[in-house]
Amino acid sequence: MKKRILTGDRPTGKLHLGHYVGSLRSRVELQHEYDLFVIIADVQALTTNWDRPEQLASDVREVTKDYLAVGIDPGVATIFIQSMVPQIAELTIFYSMFVPVNVLRHNPTIKTEAAQKGYKELNYGFLGYPVSQAADITFCKAHLVPVGKDQKPHLELTRKIARRFNELYGEVLVEPEAMIQPLLKGLDGSTKMSKSLDNAIYLSDPAEEVLRKVKSAVTDPARIRIDDLGHPRICTVFAYQKEFNAGFAPELEKICKKGQIGCVDCKHRLAAVLNEMLEPIRQKRAYYEAHIDEVDDILRAGTKRAVEEGARTLADVKHAMQIDYFGTPGA
Ligand code: TRP
Repeated sequence: MKKRILTGDRPTGKLHLGHYVGSLRSRVELQHEYDLFVIIADVQALTTNWDRPEQLASDVREVTKDYLAVGIDPGVATIFIQSMVPQIAELTIFYSMFVPVNVLRHNPTIKTEAAQKGYKELNYGFLGYPVSQAADITFCKAHLVPVGKDQKPHLELTRKIARRFNELYGEVLVEPEAMIQPLLKGLDGSTKMSKSLDNAIYLSDPAEEVLRKVKSAVTDPARIRIDDLGHPRICTVFAYQKEFNAGFAPELEKICKKGQIGCVDCKHRLAAVLNEMLEPIRQKRAYYEAHIDEVDDILRAGTKRAVEEGARTLADVKHAMQIDYFGTPGA
């Protein structure tokens, strides 16, 4: 039997290069070797967007189109919608019985996010979303979770929850491993490319937009004239070159340090490489834009499979917790 991977995204709009480097790319590489489950975490999106639920229907489809466009293959992978798998909500409740509130309060990713959003008070669902994320991962007994390093605290909590559950009630859950993926910087040089920081290049951006955004990226502030000596280690554009134009990066590093290539030239080369990579993705996306019924069918089929998995796990969970009072239905 293949080992299982679970990973996914909050549907908050179109996906960007940060998602690509941070997990989409590895999903496509691993989907044949592993049984890949991809969660569209719409309930988790509500933890910060509860006042804008009307956006979810289109955002769920935008994310799915991006998945299909980058090459996640619904023939092998299971793409599903979190809110349509009731077993995830059930598990969240059961886990919440033994997760101390202080552990959640000290979660560094929650703290950073709360500060970024300017939250003065933390809502129960927001504070508790890492518990729900543990349910996302364990409802299908996933072994591996490819995520960016900002998600590491959530994975550590998931492992603790699985371990604790198994100690308390018996060996039912799989303790998953994180596969930490690189984080991509934002165009403004901040540590993470993100929609909310408005520093992202989207997978669906047209070629001119990609060039325009690359031109706007921050570079080494010490370089004003073309022959000023560069410091590629602190340059965002160099970080992108290393990621997307790896063959050229060593040479670029040398000539940048000697002031033998200007930032404008460097940026044009980067935009060209990005556009070459993105063009087939844009084309495939356009196909799904025109065939939205296929997108919905893929989501329905994936969600059905996820619910079947969830039902199996919940039967085991309730049996272990001795709350299967009338036996397991169908068993
Ligand atoms: N928290 C993740 C993010 O913000 C999304 C997510 C929800 C997720 N459930 C998951 C990631 C389960 C991995 C596994 O990007």
